[in-house]
Amino acid sequence: MINECITKITVWCLLLIQLATPITATATSGTTGELEFPDPIPGANFSKEMSKGLHLVDFFSPYCPHCKHLEPTWKRAWKKFATEHSDLNLKISRVDCVASGDICNQENIEYYPTIRLYGPEGAIKNDPSDYQRTVEDLMRFAKAEALNPDNYADADLTSQSLGLTDEEVIQLLAGKGECPYLISFWPTDKMSKKGLEVEFIDCAQCTPFKRIWKILSNKLLRSDIKTGHVSCVKSPILCEELGFESLVPLDNDSKERDPRVALILPHKKSNNLFIFPKEKVEIDSKVYEDFATRITHNNNAPYISKVDVYNMMQKDVDFIGASKSNIKNQEIHLVFSYDPKTVVSEDFDVLEHLIGPLQDFPNVYLHQINESLIDVTKTGYKNMYTMIKNIDGESDPLVLNENSLVLNTITQLPTFFIFRDGDTTSQVFPGYSSTETRNAELILSWVSLFAKPLYSEVTPKNFNRFIEQDADVFSTIILLIANSTDPEFVESSTKLIRNINIAGYEYEHDRLDEMYSNILKERADKQEYIAYLQSMKAKPDKVVDATLLDVAHVNNLRLSQAYYDLADYDENMSWLKKSLFEESLKAGDVVVIDRLDGRVFQHDSSGNVIDASSIPRLRDILLSVTLPDKTSVVTPESVQLNFKKQQSDNIKSENRGLPTTNKLYILVIIIVCILLGTRSKRIYRKYKISKTYKNKRDTVGILGKSDFQD
Ligand SMILES: *[C@@H]1O[C@H](CO)[C@@H](O)[C@H](O)[C@H]1NC(C)=O
Ligand SMILES: *[C@@H]1O[C@H](CO)[C@@H](O)[C@H](O)[C@H]1NC(C)=O
Ligand SMILES: *[C@@H]1O[C@H](CO)[C@@H](O)[C@H](O)[C@H]1NC(C)=O
Ligand SMILES: *[C@@H]1O[C@H](CO)[C@@H](O)[C@H](O)[C@H]1NC(C)=O
Ligand SMILES: *[C@@H]1O[C@H](CO)[C@@H](O)[C@H](O)[C@H]1NC(C)=O
Repeated sequence: MINECITKITVWCLLLIQLATPITATATSGTTGELEFPDPIPGANFSKEMSKGLHLVDFFSPYCPHCKHLEPTWKRAWKKFATEHSDLNLKISRVDCVASGDICNQENIEYYPTIRLYGPEGAIKNDPSDYQRTVEDLMRFAKAEALNPDNYADADLTSQSLGLTDEEVIQLLAGKGECPYLISFWPTDKMSKKGLEVEFIDCAQCTPFKRIWKILSNKLLRSDIKTGHVSCVKSPILCEELGFESLVPLDNDSKERDPRVALILPHKKSNNLFIFPKEKVEIDSKVYEDFATRITHNNNAPYISKVDVYNMMQKDVDFIGASKSNIKNQEIHLVFSYDPKTVVSEDFDVLEHLIGPLQDFPNVYLHQINESLIDVTKTGYKNMYTMIKNIDGESDPLVLNENSLVLNTITQLPTFFIFRDGDTTSQVFPGYSSTETRNAELILSWVSLFAKPLYSEVTPKNFNRFIEQDADVFSTIILLIANSTDPEFVESSTKLIRNINIAGYEYEHDRLDEMYSNILKERADKQEYIAYLQSMKAKPDKVVDATLLDVAHVNNLRLSQAYYDLADYDENMSWLKKSLFEESLKAGDVVVIDRLDGRVFQHDSSGNVIDASSIPRLRDILLSVTLPDKTSVVTPESVQLNFKKQQSDNIKSENRGLPTTNKLYILVIIIVCILLGTRSKRIYRKYKISKTYKNKRDTVGILGKSDFQD
C-alpha cells in the first residue's frame, strides 16, 4: 500500500516537475526571436544532450535520398513543435551519422533515416512503423510521448519484478499462486557496456523492454498483479514447453529474440495461462497493463449491479475531460445474467472460454449478475422513447411497440447482455437453449458484432477497415467531425453527441418497425403459399416442406456512429478531402456514409451542410438515405465513396432494404415463429443440427429462400 503510493507519487511528481520546467533553450536558440534550425548534435555531446530530457532524434546520412526527402518535413516539425510546445520537455534533434559515425554505431543504427525516441536512460522506442512521416504524424507522436508518464518514470523506480525459477513457475501453473503473475521471458542475460549504457547482447528489444518492464512492475502493484521474470538461458526447458523455443540459446536468429510475456492466473489448474501474442509485442507498458488487468478482471467476472448498468447507460460520451478520456475510453460491458435457482455449474464453464478471445475486443469487460436484466433493457428502451417522443412536437408521439421489443429481448436465462457507455439501448444474446448459451463461438460472433463503442474512432489508418467491417449489418455510418483542440467544440460536444444519439434512436425506432412489419408480411406470404399448396392438393411432404421454410428476410440496416478528430489526424483536412469530399468540413459537421451503395452525404435535401445541431434534420437524412419509405423527405445528393468501389458493390445487397440474413437473425426469427405459434419446433430442431454459424455469416437463409419468395 505504502509502496504503491510512493510509486505513484514518484511517477507523477517526476512528470509534473518535468512539465513545469520548460526547456527554454529550444525556444530561444536564436537571438532575435526567430527560431533557427539547430545543427546536428555532435557525437561528443550526444549522451549529455540526451540526459537533459526527452528527444526525438533523426539519425541521418547527408547522402541518403530518403533522408533528403525527410529533411523539409523534419524542419517544419521541429519548428512547429518548438513554437507550439515549448512547454513540453521534448526536443526534436538530429544526428549526422557520417560526421558522428561512432554514435550511430554505438546506438545500432541499421538504416537511414532512423527516428528514435530517447530519454535520459537511453533509447526508448523507434517511431511507430504504421505511420507516414508527415509533420502531423511526427507532431502527434512527439506530443503523445512528451505527455506519456512512462517516459518519465526512470531511474528512481526500482523494479518490483521477481526473478523466478522453473520450480516457482511450475507451482504457479499448478494453481498454487496467490495472485495473478505477469511473467516476462528473456532470451539472454548477457549484458555489455556500450558508451554510458549497459545493453543486452543479441537482443535489440531487451534494453528498452527492461525499462518498460520496470515501469509495468510498479504500475501493476495497484491491481494486485505480481510481476516476475525468467531467463530462458537458465530455464530452457520451461521456455520450450511454453512455446518460446526461439528464446532458448540454441536459436540465434536475433529477429526472433524479443522478450515474451505471459500471465498466469491463480487458483486454477487449467485455462490459467495466457500468452501475450507475439505479433503484438510492443515497447509500451500500457499494452501489457491492459493485457494483465483485463484478463484478471474478466477471469473474476465481478458482480455488476443494476444501478451500475443504469449509470453506464446514462453516461455522457463527449470530449470534455482530461485528454478526451471520455470518448476515448468508452467501456463495453458483457454481462452474464443467470437465475440462481435454475443455474447449474456447467452454465458457467463458457466464461472460461471467453477470457482469452475477449482480448481482441478493446475495452470489453466481463461481468455477472444473479438476476435477469430484461427489465433493465426494457427500461432502457422506454427511456429511448422518452427521448424521441417529441422531436417534432407532433401530437401523436412515437410509442414503444411491445411486440418489436419482445423480438429484441427474447431469451432464456442464463444469457448475455451487452451494455455500452452512453447507450440506453442494449443487446440481448438471442440464446434460446443451453446449446446456444454454452457455445463460446456463437457468443463471440455476437460479441464481435455488438461489442463496439457507441462512437468508434475513425482515423486515416483504420478507415478502410472500418468501412468494410460488418457492412451487411451496420449499413450506415454517421460520422461526426470533431476537433478536440477547439474549446468551443469541446464545450458543445455533449450536446452534439446527444443530438446524434437521439436522431439515431428515432432511426432505430423506424428500423425496428420496418423489421417487424417485414416479418409479419413474410409470414403472411408463407401462410398463403401453404394454403395454396393445400388447395392444389399438393403432396403432404411438400406442404410439410413449405411449413419448414424460413422467414428469411430481415431488415438489418443498423446505424453505426463514429467520430473523426481533426486535431489528431488532419490539420489541413487533406486526407478527408482526398477520401470523401472536395468541400471543407468543420468541427460539429456530420457526414453520412451509406456503405451498401458507397454513397457519401454531406448535404441535406435543401443543400445545407449537415451538422449535429438539429435532431429532426439528422433524423430526416438518416431515414431518407437508408429507409426512404419511412419518410417524405427526399434523398439528398450524394458523392461516390472513393474507397474501393468494387468492394461496396460486392457488399451491396441485390434487394435493397431487405439484405441477406445471417444466422443470428434467423435465430431471432425462429424465436418469433415460436412466439407466433408456427410449427417451428421442427425448424428449430433442424436449425440446431446445422448450427455452425461462425463462418457462415453471409449465407442466404439456411432453409433456402428462393422457392417461393421474391
Ligand atoms: C557541444 O558541447 C560543447 C561543450 O559543452 C558546446 O560548447 C557546444 O555548443 C555543443 N554543441 C552543440 C551543437 O550542441
Ligand atoms: C547459430 O549459431 C551457430 C553456432 O554458433 C551457427 O552455426 C548457426 O549458423 C547460427 N544460426 C543462425 C540462424 O545464425
Ligand atoms: C446475488 O448476488 C448478490 C451480490 O453478490 C448477493 O448479495 C445476493 O445475495 C445474491 N442473491 C441470490 C438470490 O443469490
Ligand atoms: C481545430 O481547432 C483549433 C483551435 O480552435 C484550430 O486552430 C484549428 O485550425 C482547428 N483545426 C481544424 C482542422 O479546423
Ligand atoms: C497545409 O496548408 C497550408 C496552407 O494551404 C500549406 O502551406 C501547408 O503546406 C499544408 N500542410 C500540409 C502538411 O499539407
